[in-house]
Amino acid sequence: MVITLFIASLSKKIVMRDRPVLVTCGLPYTNGPCHLGHLRTYVPADFYARYLRRSGEKVVFICGSDNHGTPIVVSAEKDGVSPRTLSEKYHAHFDLTFRRMGVIFDHFGMTDDQANHRRTRSIVNRLIENGHVYSKVIQQSYCTKCKRFLPDRYVEGICPHCGMPARGDECDQGCGRHLEPGEIREPTCMVCGTKAESRDQEHYFFRLSEFKDFLIGYLDTLTGTLNARNYALGWVKDELRDWCITRTLHWGVKFPGRDDLVVYVWVDAPIGYISFTEEWAEQAGTSWKDCWCGEPTGITHFIGGDIVYHHCIFWPAMLKGAGYTLPSAVVASGMLKIDDKKFSKSRGNVIWVKDDYMDRGLHPDLLRYYLASYTAHNKEVNFAWNIFADKVNSELVGAFGNFINRALTFSVKNFEGKVPEGKIDADVLARIEETMAEVISGLEEYEFKKATDSVMTLADYGNTYFQSHEPWKLVKSDKDAAGSVLRSCLQIAKALVILMEPVMPAKMQNAWKQLGMPGEVSKIALEDALVPLDSGQSLGTPEILFDRLEEKFVKELEKIFMDRIKEAGYKGKGTQDKKIEEISFEDFQSMDIRIGEIKNAEAIKGSNKLLKLAVDIGGEVRQVVAGIAQSYAKEDLVGTQVVVLVNLKPAKLFGIESQAMLLAADVEGRAVLLRPRDAVETGTKVR
Ligand code: 2FM
Ligand code: ZN
Repeated sequence: MVITLFIASLSKKIVMRDRPVLVTCGLPYTNGPCHLGHLRTYVPADFYARYLRRSGEKVVFICGSDNHGTPIVVSAEKDGVSPRTLSEKYHAHFDLTFRRMGVIFDHFGMTDDQANHRRTRSIVNRLIENGHVYSKVIQQSYCTKCKRFLPDRYVEGICPHCGMPARGDECDQGCGRHLEPGEIREPTCMVCGTKAESRDQEHYFFRLSEFKDFLIGYLDTLTGTLNARNYALGWVKDELRDWCITRTLHWGVKFPGRDDLVVYVWVDAPIGYISFTEEWAEQAGTSWKDCWCGEPTGITHFIGGDIVYHHCIFWPAMLKGAGYTLPSAVVASGMLKIDDKKFSKSRGNVIWVKDDYMDRGLHPDLLRYYLASYTAHNKEVNFAWNIFADKVNSELVGAFGNFINRALTFSVKNFEGKVPEGKIDADVLARIEETMAEVISGLEEYEFKKATDSVMTLADYGNTYFQSHEPWKLVKSDKDAAGSVLRSCLQIAKALVILMEPVMPAKMQNAWKQLGMPGEVSKIALEDALVPLDSGQSLGTPEILFDRLEEKFVKELEKIFMDRIKEAGYKGKGTQDKKIEEISFEDFQSMDIRIGEIKNAEAIKGSNKLLKLAVDIGGEVRQVVAGIAQSYAKEDLVGTQVVVLVNLKPAKLFGIESQAMLLAADVEGRAVLLRPRDAVETGTKVR
């Protein structure tokens, strides 16, 4: 209780609850191993769960594997095993990998387990009883060669919203929108490549459109990262169509009363959050209803930025329709890039957590630190081995580890292995308190970097404190004064270890032992950072906490990565990820780029991304379809000068011919138009 009172004095938001806070992570599909992109979400979630526990909250940290849906069926078919066998293999892999990375869930379930089948059927039945589901005959892609309907990833084609290549249920290379069955244009069968035809089939729909007002109100109260809430609000205000919740598959949770249909994977996957809580509660001898029934209990979902739609729209509407507790926060992480290039398994642009990282003998906490401290949670993280090595060597070895080692070694050597007598400097205590406040506010804002950086700033302060007080001189002239300096330094070390534990649990446990402290630091309240170390307490044996990563080793890691990229070749399709080749000056000259002026801008029916523009390129007006509707109001564009690539082959988007292209900077998916700094004559060539 003391902890809560102290923390409450620093922060008004954290309130002790009787019911547990449920923290969840998006469920990994069981069709491939764990990669760094997964950890981008799980490590901060684990950091958050540890921090909440250390603040005195009851926390249940839940995850599991996502076993249904076409990605798993397609991979299992390729491997010649059953989807269940494939799922069990990768389930065990994720479970072990997460544990090795120090990401410790209270329960890690499987969506194919009976508890989830039961809970899903119960929720779907409740939605049917409550009038939220209806059936309708729709046109579905059908492959005449394979003689089957083509759900989700069995079909590829063109996104009807943005014109980019897409797969059946998602525009994964373009606008990122969820696609309903039958919506994809120019569908082809993914298995045999045959052009698919459309055939009638009866499916079941969830009346999502009726939840519009509810969702607008709910999203207004949703906490977490702003990217999740704001994207979702934009989509809800724009359009909300009913959602097809069945698929023609045998693998999955059977739709009640229909043996030929299963529910769409995005119905039973989030329901896994509930059924895994049930499984956990049964073992823990408590009730899952404490989390999922009644008033909001602080359910916090950590997810990747690509599945905001599912968690902020489908999921709360389903919960509302079936009468369950709504999530309080959705924390969406930015995506991961490797070597500044888009993450891609097929092109080898991937770091596998087991093979590339842990099996090379690298300590999990180094990667945890990298992921927590690289950038803001909702921003893109770039991973490169050289940046990783720089961060480890300068921040962990050079600053953090160095300080703890210096303080300990000096005390052990000069004060008989004990915490010296002397007074802890008031300035030191004030700095620790300040750091605690920053950590708390960082975590409340889901700013894991802010929290981690403030602890590193305390380590820098410690180094400066040690250096400027010159205890190596003082110990000869005034041993008592030297004792006070060292006791102050050891207090900083204690605070560093306590506050950094949620980020680097194993390393901090080691440091805790070196400080001579008993038990597990993961069980110590954050507030204890300010509890003075007892003079005379025995210290442990100092040892190096972090080893330098040598250049030779880093080069080896880089080589493994580069070889994989070479081996994969640059076979990627789509335009977004193509390797950028050098071009000649002649190639550049062959591009007709001019200054144009927007004369008219209109919305395109059915698209929330595209605008139809009339652009004067110097005596000629071209029709241009541009994906800028979410960046600019159409009224503001008329009269604006823009940079136009004029001789690009015309293409049809949404059935409208685009006869040129506007140049824009891609700022995390938001288009920012390029324009001349000074007004120039329309039609002026760009050289
Ligand atoms: O996108 C994915 O990888 C999904 N397997 C995430 C599911 S999260 C939740 F809803 F279950
Ligand atoms: Zn699209």
